[in-house]
Amino acid sequence: MIRNAIFVNDLTCSFTDKIVLDALSFVVPTNSTCVIIGPSGCGKTTLLHTLAGFIKPDSGVLRMNDEPVTDFPKRTGIILQDYALLPWCTVFDNVALGLKISHQNRMVIKEKTTALLNELGILDIADYYPSQISGGQKQRTAIARSLNLEPEILLLDEATSALDAMTREQLQEMILTLHQLKKTTLLQVTHSIEEAVFLGEQIIVMKKGGIHEIIQNPLVGIKAIRKKSIFYDMCLTVRESLESGTRG
Ligand SMILES: Nc1ncnc2c1ncn2[C@@H]1O[C@H](COP(=O)(O)OP(=O)(O)OP(=O)(O)O)[C@@H](O)[C@H]1O
Ligand SMILES: [Mg+2]
Repeated sequence: MIRNAIFVNDLTCSFTDKIVLDALSFVVPTNSTCVIIGPSGCGKTTLLHTLAGFIKPDSGVLRMNDEPVTDFPKRTGIILQDYALLPWCTVFDNVALGLKISHQNRMVIKEKTTALLNELGILDIADYYPSQISGGQKQRTAIARSLNLEPEILLLDEATSALDAMTREQLQEMILTLHQLKKTTLLQVTHSIEEAVFLGEQIIVMKKGGIHEIIQNPLVGIKAIRKKSIFYDMCLTVRESLESGTRG
């Protein structure tokens, strides 16, 4: 039986009297990937925050790993749009934070954290504080912090947006490899059509307040997919869906 890592049914969420999410429903099967794309202000971050338990919705059913969302869900990692790094901790300590809180052995923390910093190309800034590093380095630090806990579900909000094109592609490949090796379920918010097609087995195209269309994408994981014309055909499909969603 296919389990759903994320289950959303009839979710409605508003701020004061403005409805931001209006009766949203979708599921993300366990071990699959899903990307959410849509115009600025349509409610993507709000949706991610309700899944993380940061915002309480007005109504609807939300389940993560078959458990109702009441607090921050277990075995879940989140990478926020504004990184949320602790300014008084170095890069190393920010990345090691979760392992320290869960009282892991000091040597294990050092080894795991060092390996991850190395993999993400930020080992040389391990002793820097967030105020001393660039936007892209902050983003990679935030990603490393989440990956260090080996989450079953990873929620990402524009995790690659501050990076140059090549670093962004490397990071997308790393996220895909993580999904393939560790079977992590991914839910990623992005503004990039190419990122959506590269990473999302399911692409949820949002319009203001709701879902415009859910596109199934069989191209994820195909070798050198970015160099194939079917990749650009799928990008065009997503672009047209976004445009028709914006027209309303
Ligand atoms: N705490 C809040 N109080 C009031 N309104 C809010 C709050 N947070 C978000 N909103 C409003 O909800 C709507 C959706 O915001 P949200 O941040 O979810 O959009 P988004 O799709 O993530 O946009 P972007 O692509 O620019 O990040 C916006 O109109 C925003 O102004
Ligand atoms: Mg947002």
